[in-house]
Amino acid sequence: MEETNSARVDDCVNFEKLKKIKLNDDNENDDDLFKDEGSSSKNDQHSLLVAQHYNKLQEKGLKERFNSKIFYLRNFNNWIKSMLISEYLQKIKDSIQFGSPLRVLDMCCGKGGDLLKWQKGNISYLICTDIASMSIEQCKARYEKITAHDPPERKSFNAEFFTCDATRDRLRERYSDPSIELNLVSCQFAFHYCFESPKQAETMLKNVSECLRPGGYFIGTIPDAYDIMKRQRNSRSDSFGNDIFEIKFLSDPNDLPIFGAKYNFHLDGVVDCPEFLVYFPALVKLAKKYSLKLVEVVRFEDYFHRNIGRGRNLLEKMSAVEQYGLQGNRMSRSNDNEYKHAKDFLLQRGGYDNCRRCGTLSASEWEAACNSLHDIRLPKSQRAHRMKMF
Ligand SMILES: C[S@@+](CC[C@H](N)C(=O)[O-])C[C@H]1O[C@@H](n2cnc3c(N)ncnc32)[C@H](O)[C@@H]1O
Repeated sequence: MEETNSARVDDCVNFEKLKKIKLNDDNENDDDLFKDEGSSSKNDQHSLLVAQHYNKLQEKGLKERFNSKIFYLRNFNNWIKSMLISEYLQKIKDSIQFGSPLRVLDMCCGKGGDLLKWQKGNISYLICTDIASMSIEQCKARYEKITAHDPPERKSFNAEFFTCDATRDRLRERYSDPSIELNLVSCQFAFHYCFESPKQAETMLKNVSECLRPGGYFIGTIPDAYDIMKRQRNSRSDSFGNDIFEIKFLSDPNDLPIFGAKYNFHLDGVVDCPEFLVYFPALVKLAKKYSLKLVEVVRFEDYFHRNIGRGRNLLEKMSAVEQYGLQGNRMSRSNDNEYKHAKDFLLQRGGYDNCRRCGTLSASEWEAACNSLHDIRLPKSQRAHRMKMF
């Protein structure tokens, strides 16, 4: 029991050992792992902290964003989201009748960073929710702005907005039409907040699943807990990072619980608040309970390599990488070591005579992008859903 109730460091790093925990489909005893042990008042405080943090974040101007140390990293993350969203909207369009409405829930939508992606994807309806009320206000204002020139009776897409805690509140009760059928639920860079407790993870997954049509998809991006643990072990300390990000463990990294494994994540000028490791086998197991079956989980670096062919133009258009040339151009970071990988890459391909350039991220940004991010896709299982209906 002891052994199964906590995912120790070794378990987090070593996949073989993970298998021994037997979070498999048939092991009903695993349900013990999901028992809520946390105190809810302490948890409430934590959500408040997260909401306060995001409410305080100011929208930055173009100039300030360009001068930020993570300008390209943010664009790169945005590119990943664009590719993921367009890929899954296309899958859904291919599976429904031409002209059918396409309805999306953007859970933990923030200030509406994905609104243009939804508009470009020709969706018909969008629900935006977030725990931070200021973010919701800004998201709504942004929506009004991007649809301002649409004819009122033919808006490019209609939308509703409300503030709520997706790990505690039942979203369906807040929808203007609680019987709405969604084709896609998207939760970008936020699902990990629900791994504070089993109850919160269940509520979040119930919110994902409840109005999702059979055959619909849940897509999301979360930090990669295994990678974080690997880096923590290599650093032999409770904290690690570089000059743009820092992860500091607030739970004992040698005795991590499956839920509530807390660390503080700091990302230059954008994030500075506690987050929770997502123990992936537990997520898959819980998701199944809500008729969601894992289709694919991909690390950002792999997703990048897989999609660069299809997404090269967009990558350039979004300035998701900076151009490095051997003849010396001004880079966003002045330290040459930040671009040693790009230099080596070009040297291998032709030496100093070669005027070619390559697109890259600084080493620090690449480390932040690749250490931590998973992209998950869970479709609503048709069979499981039908079973629910009997
Ligand atoms: C890193 S931001 C990502 C925002 C947006 N999805 C994006 O990709 O631009 C994380 C967001 O999750 C929201 N959030 C955190 N905990 C939440 C909760 N329990 N319920 C709803 N939103 C939450 C935060 O307010 C914040 O806007």
